[in-house]
Amino acid sequence: MADVLLMAQNLRKAFGGLVAVDDVSIQVASDTTHSIIGPNGAGKTTLFNLLTGRYRPTRGAVIYKGRDITTLPVHARAHLGIGRSFQITNVFPNLTVLENARLAAQALGKDNFRILRRADSFAAYTRRAHEVLEITGLRDVLAVPANVLPHGGKRKLELAMILASDPELLLLDEPTAGMASEQVPELIAIIERIRAEGRKTIIMVEHNMNVVMNISNRITVMHQGRVLAEGDPRQIAQDKTVQAVYLGELYDLPTGGSA
Ligand SMILES: Nc1ncnc2c1ncn2[C@@H]1O[C@H](COP(=O)(O)OP(=O)(O)OP(=O)(O)O)[C@@H](O)[C@H]1O
Ligand SMILES: [Mg+2]
Repeated sequence: MADVLLMAQNLRKAFGGLVAVDDVSIQVASDTTHSIIGPNGAGKTTLFNLLTGRYRPTRGAVIYKGRDITTLPVHARAHLGIGRSFQITNVFPNLTVLENARLAAQALGKDNFRILRRADSFAAYTRRAHEVLEITGLRDVLAVPANVLPHGGKRKLELAMILASDPELLLLDEPTAGMASEQVPELIAIIERIRAEGRKTIIMVEHNMNVVMNISNRITVMHQGRVLAEGDPRQIAQDKTVQAVYLGELYDLPTGGSA
């Protein structure tokens, strides 16, 4: 079996009486794109927050590279190589695209670049910023203030900023949220370029089935806090239960009986 990079073991998160994540176990293999899908309120973002350290689970464990990180805070996980995006926009609006990317490279770059002199490390951050802006298709808007970018451009800049610190695991919560459908193929291409950099694993929550079915190696379907199904895109697309609770509703497919 492929190397397991991250494992969730019997995770549970309750908010008062509401169990948002209920006994969820997943294994994410290195160098794969693993998508989490499911209807609104299924517990996808809550699971993400347990994986990134924003929330502590009520029960269960998160294991990264064989190490129990269940109680580590977000920044400590970031230093281990776990980068995440947010559903909210978190770029500096008045700084240029290049400056935002360089700051992101700098934020976590200390360990990688500590041995370098100040001027050299600035050059290294700038180089990394240029690399990630190339990957995310922002090369032509380097000098544009972030707040002038259209929505799709801001989403790409967020991706560039996570990538800047060179994480081994990227957690993307709805990367296409708010994007026009004609921008979706470009986003798919960007994610493929991110993977092509090598040594990159992606866990993605996404509602756009075109994106999910195109780029996922593995898909976990959540429903009411629990894992409903898991498999490769073909298995998930053909799964009758998944069709009934989720895909049927999205695609308006017949969910049983004679069509
Ligand atoms: N901080 C919180 N406090 C209380 N309840 C919460 C909190 N966060 C999430 N919930 C509840 O937990 C359940 C799961 O929410 P979650 O945001 O994880 O779903 P989701 O699958 O990400 O949905 P969506 O597709 O709409 O983003 C929902 O019923 C939600 O209202
Ligand atoms: Mg969510």
